[in-house]
Amino acid sequence: MNHSLSLTIAIDGPAASGKGTLARRLADYYHLPHLDTGLTYRAVGHALLIHGLPLDNVSAAETAARQVDLANLDREVLSAHEVADAASKVAVFPTVRKILVDKQRAFAAQPGGAVLDGRDIGTVVCPEADVKLYVTASPEVRAARRLRDIHSRGGKADLADILADIVRRDERDAGRADSPLRLAPDAHLLDTSEMSIEAAFQAARSAIEDVLAKRNKT
Ligand code: DC
Repeated sequence: MNHSLSLTIAIDGPAASGKGTLARRLADYYHLPHLDTGLTYRAVGHALLIHGLPLDNVSAAETAARQVDLANLDREVLSAHEVADAASKVAVFPTVRKILVDKQRAFAAQPGGAVLDGRDIGTVVCPEADVKLYVTASPEVRAARRLRDIHSRGGKADLADILADIVRRDERDAGRADSPLRLAPDAHLLDTSEMSIEAAFQAARSAIEDVLAKRNKT
């Protein structure tokens, strides 16, 4: 685990793919700071929702984006389903993305490196990342996981609704013009449909260890 210089790990993937869990585990293992960039878009969506503003109000979204404080992102508040949908809507605006991407890049540039997860980390935010991972799973598997998650927290939801929501969000996130969700050519693809989080972690770790071993040889 000796990565004396700097290590930047970029993790992308669709909603509920398991990328967040993987990102947290890797950050923990390699002692790196972690940023869930989805929370930054959620914070903007949440700000518009609580002020009763329409989600296509670009200037209000820009103002909210400028106010996003990476040290103050409340996962609990931002985890609501309506906030996720609002985040995906405000994330189509290039000016909003630019403001958030600048903050995300500053986070990634800290000495020692960082783990960032989102939709465009390997393609736009950190194209020079040392390791890029693309975590995905079928929409059905992701919906079932999300349902288990909701149940485990004592909530209620309908599988068909969750699936429809995931498909709609995938279409918006992968179909937008600016920085759509896509697999970077140099990313390691981890399909977790039939892979446990432990297996995904080991696969990710092996990709990272390869990079570190090559670095130690030079
Ligand atoms: O990862 P998440 O579900 O918290 O993300 C919420 C929304 O934010 C997602 O549907 C699209 C947007 N997003 C983005 O456009 N780019 C990112 N790097 C992260 C999230």
